[in-house]
Amino acid sequence: MIGEATRSEFAQDKSDDPVVKAEIDNFEREALAWRAGGGLGDDFRPFRLQHGTYGQRQANVQMMRIKVPHGTMTPDQLHAVADCADSYTVRKLGHVTTRQAIQLHFVKLEDSPKVMRRLAEVGLTTREACGHTVRNITADPLSGIADDCVFDVTPYAEAAMRYFLRNSVNQKLPRKFKITYSASPEDRGLIPMHDIGLMALDRDGEPGFRVSVGGGLGAAPRVADVLVDFIPVHEQLRTIEAVIRVWDRLGERRNKNKARIKFLIARLGIDEFRRLYEVELATLPPAGHPQYREPDFTLIEEAPAEASYASSHGRAAPRPGFDAWRRTNAIKQRQAPYHTVYVLLPIGDVSAEQMHALAEIARKYAGGHIRTAATQNLVLRWVHEDDLPAIHGELADIGLAEADALTISDVVTCPGADTCSIGVTSSKGLGTELRSRILAGNGRYRDPLVNDIKIRVSGCPNSCGQHHVADIGFYGMAIRSGERQLPAFQLLLGGSAQGEGRLATITMKIPARRAPDAFEKLLDAYVRERNDGERFGAWSGRVGTAHVQELLAEYKAVPAFNEDPMAYVDWGQTKLFTLDDMGEGECAV
Ligand code: HEM
Ligand code: SF4
Repeated sequence: MIGEATRSEFAQDKSDDPVVKAEIDNFEREALAWRAGGGLGDDFRPFRLQHGTYGQRQANVQMMRIKVPHGTMTPDQLHAVADCADSYTVRKLGHVTTRQAIQLHFVKLEDSPKVMRRLAEVGLTTREACGHTVRNITADPLSGIADDCVFDVTPYAEAAMRYFLRNSVNQKLPRKFKITYSASPEDRGLIPMHDIGLMALDRDGEPGFRVSVGGGLGAAPRVADVLVDFIPVHEQLRTIEAVIRVWDRLGERRNKNKARIKFLIARLGIDEFRRLYEVELATLPPAGHPQYREPDFTLIEEAPAEASYASSHGRAAPRPGFDAWRRTNAIKQRQAPYHTVYVLLPIGDVSAEQMHALAEIARKYAGGHIRTAATQNLVLRWVHEDDLPAIHGELADIGLAEADALTISDVVTCPGADTCSIGVTSSKGLGTELRSRILAGNGRYRDPLVNDIKIRVSGCPNSCGQHHVADIGFYGMAIRSGERQLPAFQLLLGGSAQGEGRLATITMKIPARRAPDAFEKLLDAYVRERNDGERFGAWSGRVGTAHVQELLAEYKAVPAFNEDPMAYVDWGQTKLFTLDDMGEGECAV
């Protein structure tokens, strides 16, 4: 029995670790030298990205991406992120990303080493969160606790994170590399769209993984191929390493737009890639070699000690809205009577104050077990059933007891043009408007099949909001109208990241201001036209693109500026749409 998730080394204080200390001191020196006009000069940018620090649309401020390996956090770690958001960001906000990291925006460059030091005290890092590296390693947030789990993948994801962090094989890759783990066939790790994905399997009692490679989104999306049907768990690190080494050697390096591993696999074919992988694998040390670290099985969580959860202190009376919240946001764990609670963060944002409060709520009710989810929510595990009314009440007190997690109103968005230097439109603006339409629908969207629809919005074709795997996806673009440009979204339908994965079909361009009306009409048509039990993706596939285009034709027209000037103002903005403030992309630097 454990009280809080601090047993494993994953959360240890790293501020005195000589490697970490020297790394941050070095970053600080280089940042100051660059500011003074010297130092690394143009090479400072890739160096900064290697340390998880991105440029922003706004001059002189940075976005810092904090890696949260397998999404697992302790209360102390969440407090540290909250401290950084509070002390070093203008808006005092954190943003949970579609890959389980947490981003801080509007950080001054000179403050970024302070952020790194505070994070190091609790074992967190921004190192290799950006740049051409192995990025944050993601995993199913319900690993080990959902009914359908084959086994808990957390220790394996942690071992991979520790193996590749600062590893020389991972410092100058052709492009970024994203690894994910799924604990069950539900595939909450989103394997089809990852560079490499490991799916937990049980083969006659032996735990292992099916390994898929070459998935990815962006302007040229691709669904992953299966590389190997089964590897025993202890083979995982050398398997990943062999894949990375083949790509590192043969991947495109000049044209960064063709450098992801998916392009290499598309060019060679999966059979030839597999042959090269097998040759590479044979050159690596065996799985038992000391260089391959053992998984840390203390990461496997157990029920919190009786005294650490609040049910022993008495029961709270349910507040209004409790039943609805419980239905959607509290998931029964395989370990009765525990539940996992989804804390819905609207479009992924959470304030410093809320993070501090959540850390204490997690300590009190969840044995300290916190995870970030790729759905941009926080997940509190190991909540005793008797504590659900109390935790709901405390979440309500901090404005985080919204029901309907993982339903149509739980819209996922990338940071978008509000902060992203290459963003075209405000994905958060459209996401917020869609959410408020859904919430204002007063039960119109209560239909279970409608409720199940997943909406994802990106501010440009790069797909950081993962629009390709949404039932209803949008990505931002600009439409020219005479001398002017107006914000618009491309509508995509019928995508899914589950099972074999399915990329959404590009359907039509719609001026941004009309997108919410088009969305509502689309939902009405789905409800009217679907067959019994037909899911949204099946309906949109059956009726086809031409039908939807005809249905939504009235929203396609581009109004002249003097007829509708507001069409030229993006969602959430007060001034006319412009791309003049767009910066240079850093994703391929
Ligand atoms: C041309 C440049 C870029 C490309 C091609 C690109 C592409 C992508 C893709 C395909 C994903 C999402 C799907 C996945 O998880 O694999 C992603 C994730 C993400 N991107 Fe970008 N991106 C670019 C630049 C940016 C910029 C400038 C920002 C914001 C400052 C940004 C923010 C994000 C975020 C927040 C995620 C989730 C990532 C994480 O937590 O690791 N991206 N990017
Ligand atoms: S999808 Fe485009 S706008 Fe959104 S964060 Fe990625 S690069 Fe920026």
